[in-house]
Amino acid sequence: MLVERAYAKINLTLDVLGKRQDGYHSVDMVMQTLDLSDLLWMEEMDQDAVIVDATAPHIPLDHRNLAVAAAELFRERSGIRRGLRLKIEKNIPVAAGLAGGSADAAAVLRGLNRLWQTGYSLDELADMGAEIGSDVPFCVYGGAAVASGRGERIHRFTHSLRAFVVLTRPPVFVSTADVYEATLPEQYASAPASPRMVKALQEGDLERVRQAYTNGLMATTFRLYPEVRALADRIRTVTGQPVYMSGSGPTLYLLLPTQSQAQRTYNALRGFIRDVHLCRFTPV
Ligand code: C5P
Repeated sequence: MLVERAYAKINLTLDVLGKRQDGYHSVDMVMQTLDLSDLLWMEEMDQDAVIVDATAPHIPLDHRNLAVAAAELFRERSGIRRGLRLKIEKNIPVAAGLAGGSADAAAVLRGLNRLWQTGYSLDELADMGAEIGSDVPFCVYGGAAVASGRGERIHRFTHSLRAFVVLTRPPVFVSTADVYEATLPEQYASAPASPRMVKALQEGDLERVRQAYTNGLMATTFRLYPEVRALADRIRTVTGQPVYMSGSGPTLYLLLPTQSQAQRTYNALRGFIRDVHLCRFTPV
């Protein structure tokens, strides 16, 4: 039996650059891991199957769960047909733009590589992960990276900014596919914001990070789901701080320089929203 942590990510930038022949969109994104994590318990069992159990309701327990898809793919690729019992302790908000499902899948790939001593490199696990979902390769590595292609091409970088993040998941179900599909060519970026964002992170300058923030899906998510926009407006009014969105949403977040400011912001949001988390960038 072993346990592996699956970390949430936020997008600090997300530029849509165009639409591809395969129906996906070309993107350029700066991704950052947070210290908000699920726990995945993996245990071998005699039966030739993958059985999954989760602490949260409303998540599928079959192949639609990316962790199960990852276990099945790993068994197929490695040729190891041993049975697996998987338990997911869910802390990352589900279907939120935080890559919770992708992080679980990545943790399964890393965990099974240890459990069955298959010796795959992280790059090989990331290639496997790309078959499961666009965000899985980033989650295999974690840390900070620029993701390109459909999000699966990862260029890692280091920085030393230790920002605090207060985030909330509005109680709205957002379809990533619908948001991409409804994003108009006028909203595509002519040049990615990632170079500016990477520089700001590497200079440790939170103000510049805030200025470099961009999300080419945010206007679409706000248009399709007005309750997300309404909540963002309310949070901005209450805190006096800029409000950001991760991925296709609906998670909204604020970036704060100190623990005490983050705690005050957290308390203010808790006054009118139930699902609020205070976390920070993981070191990279
Ligand atoms: O890769 P993943 O399964 O996470 O993507 C979910 C959906 O989001 C895709 O089916 C596609 O409609 C859309 N998508 C996209 N361009 C991307 C990533 C996702 O159009 N780069």
